[in-house]
Amino acid sequence: MAANSLTITDNRTGKSYEVPVTDGTIKAMDLRQIKTGADDFGLMTYDPAFMNTASCRSAITFIDGDKGILEYRGYPIEDIADKASFLEVAYLLNEGEFPNTAQLAKWTDDVRYHTYVHTNVIKFLEGFRYDAHPMGMLLGAVGALSTFYPDAKHIDDPRNRYVQRVRLMAKFPTIAAFCFRHSHGLPYEFPRNDLSYIGNFVNMTFSIGGKHEPNPVLQRALEILLILHADHEQNCSTNAVRSVGSSHVDPFSAISAGIAALYGPLHGGANEAVLRMLDEIGSKDRIPGFIEKVKKGEGRLMGFGHRVYKSYDPRAKLIKHIADEVFQQTGMNPKLEIALQLEAIALKDDYFIQRKLYPNVDFYSGLIYQAMGYPTDYFTVLFALGRLPGWLAQWEELVKDGEQKIARPRQIYTGPRKRKFSK
Ligand code: CMC
Repeated sequence: MAANSLTITDNRTGKSYEVPVTDGTIKAMDLRQIKTGADDFGLMTYDPAFMNTASCRSAITFIDGDKGILEYRGYPIEDIADKASFLEVAYLLNEGEFPNTAQLAKWTDDVRYHTYVHTNVIKFLEGFRYDAHPMGMLLGAVGALSTFYPDAKHIDDPRNRYVQRVRLMAKFPTIAAFCFRHSHGLPYEFPRNDLSYIGNFVNMTFSIGGKHEPNPVLQRALEILLILHADHEQNCSTNAVRSVGSSHVDPFSAISAGIAALYGPLHGGANEAVLRMLDEIGSKDRIPGFIEKVKKGEGRLMGFGHRVYKSYDPRAKLIKHIADEVFQQTGMNPKLEIALQLEAIALKDDYFIQRKLYPNVDFYSGLIYQAMGYPTDYFTVLFALGRLPGWLAQWEELVKDGEQKIARPRQIYTGPRKRKFSK
């Protein structure tokens, strides 16, 4: 009997099976041989929400949720957030190494070259209602890019995949900024390729009459926030990108599936939900009543809890520092005081302690975005802009992974069978 194996005895039949254990996992398909008879389909695992299922091998992001560790390609997030630029991080996630000077220059030039979008993109953005949610606009517009680049279907060609990844990195900020301008009834501001990646994005959102005075502290704060969001292994939206990408569709369509998943309030939409919650609480004296409601199961403390982090979210720690720097520039936000007190009360409360609920990345990010001048319904767009390099890196890894096939889970059928149909 191999040491790295699991012996399973099926008490229904008395038979024993030896299943290899590799990397702390068994292959679900190894259970299929466990049958009660020739007609039996074989044993499956039941794992709604993939609570205990590894869906891929990945060398991109490492998380230890119990210890609060997050690493991109092996580098601790704290060091990356301190020293790297967003484009360097995007390169790191996609290529596996930080770029050298020449590689960074080429990567930056390639992205800069593709920042413009076809003018027809503007025409269909104009078709959205004045109050369209920017995430709805973003997911529609990014998905529609596939119709402009039919060559993106050739996903077996590495050179072609690189071009599409560059296009997405380049055009995403432009589309995201256009969505912002649309919501404000402002004319679209076109990309300025003399500016940095972040500088250009900020300019496209806030420039009025061709003028915007950049604030380097706020721009670096935004850059760090995007870096902190850049990848988070197999989260809901990344799983959506991989699942849709596994059908071999073009990357624009796969990324728009990721945007759709991120839109939800339990995922990227949580930063927006935090602000709405702080508005609902309204003043510090109403915090205890709100906490009691949460404990009774009447709503959740948004920005708290995480599927993976069960001690603390390292990104939330870094974001709190950024909040200090930003609020020094913009002045105190009264909602920040409510958030700070809410956090202090929740961290001492048994309900949250027992369930290991700590602030996550979204608890303070919305407050910072608001201080920067972004409206609440735009926060998740900023999350998406940050997450894009991770989605692209995960998509590239998926396409190259010989073990992957089209994603197709099984089900346990619970409905009726063989009913008589009569009219
Ligand atoms: N407030 C109050 N109770 C909570 C919360 C919360 N935010 N999160 C979890 N719980 C409770 C939940 O009711 C359950 O209690 P019980 O055992 O008594 O039924 C227990 O904690 C376990 O919760 P769960 O729903 O099984 O945990 P999960 O791992 O499925 O959910 C989560 C993770 C992030 C969806 C959840 O914590 C949540 O809804 N948080 C609020 C939304 C939020 O902030 N989302 C952003 C996540 S971080 C950014 C990202 O990656 O998207």
